[in-house]
Amino acid sequence: MIQLHGVSKAYQKDSAALNDISLKIEKGEFVFLTGPSGAGKSTLLKLLFGAEKPNRGQIIINGQNLTRLAVSRISLLRRRMGIVFQDFKLLNRRTIFENVAFPLEIQGRRRFEISKKVYQTLQQVGLEHKIHRHPLELSGGEQQRVAIARALVVDPLVLLADEPTGNLDPEVTLEIMELFKLANARGSTVLLATHDREMLRRFPRRVLTLDGGRLVGDQTP
Ligand SMILES: Nc1ncnc2c1ncn2[C@@H]1O[C@H](COP(=O)(O)OP(=O)(O)O)[C@@H](O)[C@H]1O
Ligand SMILES: [Mg+2]
Repeated sequence: MIQLHGVSKAYQKDSAALNDISLKIEKGEFVFLTGPSGAGKSTLLKLLFGAEKPNRGQIIINGQNLTRLAVSRISLLRRRMGIVFQDFKLLNRRTIFENVAFPLEIQGRRRFEISKKVYQTLQQVGLEHKIHRHPLELSGGEQQRVAIARALVVDPLVLLADEPTGNLDPEVTLEIMELFKLANARGSTVLLATHDREMLRRFPRRVLTLDGGRLVGDQTP
């Protein structure tokens, strides 16, 4: 599902954020990406999401070579990917419904279909009763559940998450992790960046470790 061949990224000359990364993630895998702050975790996720371009190497997602795709093709591929951030990145002036509906509107889905899918997805994350609220009326954990619903509403091939529980307390972290497991069980390939060692212990999964922009570990329990 995801392949990197010799991928390097430098934001500035002489300081590589990622250095010659090669890896392969199969369809349906759940993989953690870990390493200290500055290791390159967020950069790797940005490259996969097409938000940044590599300086060198190839990135292949679902059989499509990102580095060769036209911009319009990249945005089509991106529509089948979900991404979740530490700080939620919800539109605070829009309702929960509008936030989750947004990716479907970009896809040009019909209104009736959008309403149904948004409701179903909010049910999956246990927030259908908050559908007409605004993000800032919700707790942090609830806001992250909305952000996950927004990622899941397109039935993503690939679900990327960048420190999604970094702002949440341990109890809420477990609830959020259950949602990622559920998404994975429903078919999304999941790549989740975290530096939380406790999480890696609690959820034994394949772990890719970055350090100083290099892939220094790839362990499967
Ligand atoms: N937009 C940017 N401009 C310049 N340097 C950046 C930018 N984003 C990240 N970096 C640098 O790239 C390296 C990797 O950062 P990042 O991918 O955010 O690591 P992590 O997510 O593991 O903390 C760091 O040295 C960071 O300072
Ligand atoms: Mg980061």
